[in-house]
Amino acid sequence: MSGYDDARTAARALATEAVHAGRDDLARQGLHAPPIDLSTTYPSYDSRAEAARIDAFAATGAEPDGPPVYGRLGNPTVARFETALAKLEGTDAAVAFASGMAALSAVLLVRASMGLRHVVAVRPLYGCSDHLLTAGLLGSEVTWTDPAGIADALRPDTGLVMVETPANPTLAEVDLRAVAHACGSVPLLVDNTFATPVLQRPAEHGARLVLHSATKYLGGHGDVMAGVVACDEELAGRLRQVRFATGGVLHPLAGYLLLRGLATLPVRVRAASESAAELARRLSADPRVARVHYPGIGGAMVAFEVKGDPHEVIAGVRLVTPAVSLGSVDTLIQHPASISHRIVDADDRRGAGVSDRLLRMSVGLEDVDDLWADLDQALGGVSVRAAGRSADEGAAGRPEPAGAH
Ligand SMILES: Cc1ncc(COP(=O)(O)O)c(C=O)c1O
Repeated sequence: MSGYDDARTAARALATEAVHAGRDDLARQGLHAPPIDLSTTYPSYDSRAEAARIDAFAATGAEPDGPPVYGRLGNPTVARFETALAKLEGTDAAVAFASGMAALSAVLLVRASMGLRHVVAVRPLYGCSDHLLTAGLLGSEVTWTDPAGIADALRPDTGLVMVETPANPTLAEVDLRAVAHACGSVPLLVDNTFATPVLQRPAEHGARLVLHSATKYLGGHGDVMAGVVACDEELAGRLRQVRFATGGVLHPLAGYLLLRGLATLPVRVRAASESAAELARRLSADPRVARVHYPGIGGAMVAFEVKGDPHEVIAGVRLVTPAVSLGSVDTLIQHPASISHRIVDADDRRGAGVSDRLLRMSVGLEDVDDLWADLDQALGGVSVRAAGRSADEGAAGRPEPAGAH
């Protein structure tokens, strides 16, 4: 290895990796921006060599050396994003998909193909993840439990334990080290969408699979839909094989946008988290707000229960965008019981702590005083109508650390 390569591969801080990982070869190629390879197929005059490459992929799922054979086997631009995300999460590999749900589906299919159809999961999860498991759409069977019940819920056919922390939408947190310990040899999947590797690297705590809806913070600008699983090379190989066979690939342009998004991820997450913490403080002190949820590890998401009608707040915002999703440069607010978690049975939803008065806000990069001014006027209507109401009010006056689960 040359001195040049030594310098390039030495351990580097997260902020440095965010800008450079997946791009280390560019300068040597005389490039600055990564090229976008839109090819769906890759010509070769040597079909014997192609046969050997396909056999190798079928055996291990390892990325073929050289160019891919066909776009569903891999894409060089997407591979740059995968390399970078694996670096940020501290895993061997990462495998990208067309959406977060495609990524979760691939994980379930990998485990089911090994005869391990049972999943142990902790609520709340993102509404559609909950739905995918509850409805058994991919033939899985789920046992819902709290973190303390994981060890007892495991069965010989349990293929996966799944948690989100901080969880969507209540921002409940789990102790990842304790959960990983309870899983024994069963792989733990942590949905790290809300924390991002800037705030939390679940693989360091024993998670074998780290999932992202890359649609959120990794992309960061609300203009790319994607999912990714960071994991060891063995599981990555199986995930690539499932992706090849089922087709949920990421488009190369999305791969390019995600790589660009990663470069600013630490800066965006830290700046938005500062504003979110300040808004959580102001909301906690506001008499129109019954309860504020803000994670102990920080982050750019805030959830709060209003004393009045949450639909009035959604109707009242002007600077904040009333929309589902999260992780964009602009602040979004939505009512989980109506949108992100609508598909979850109402009793299950409420049982998981998702109150009908809960609003979930993804704080962006606007000035915090402008955001507060908008929230203040949107909450204004609530306070008038809320007078005299007392339903499910919690303790106001302090942000609630999102608790053990
Ligand atoms: C925590 C979490 N996981 C997974 C998903 C699913 O991701 P996608 O919408 O990219 O399929 C979402 C989407 O909101 C989410 O919030």
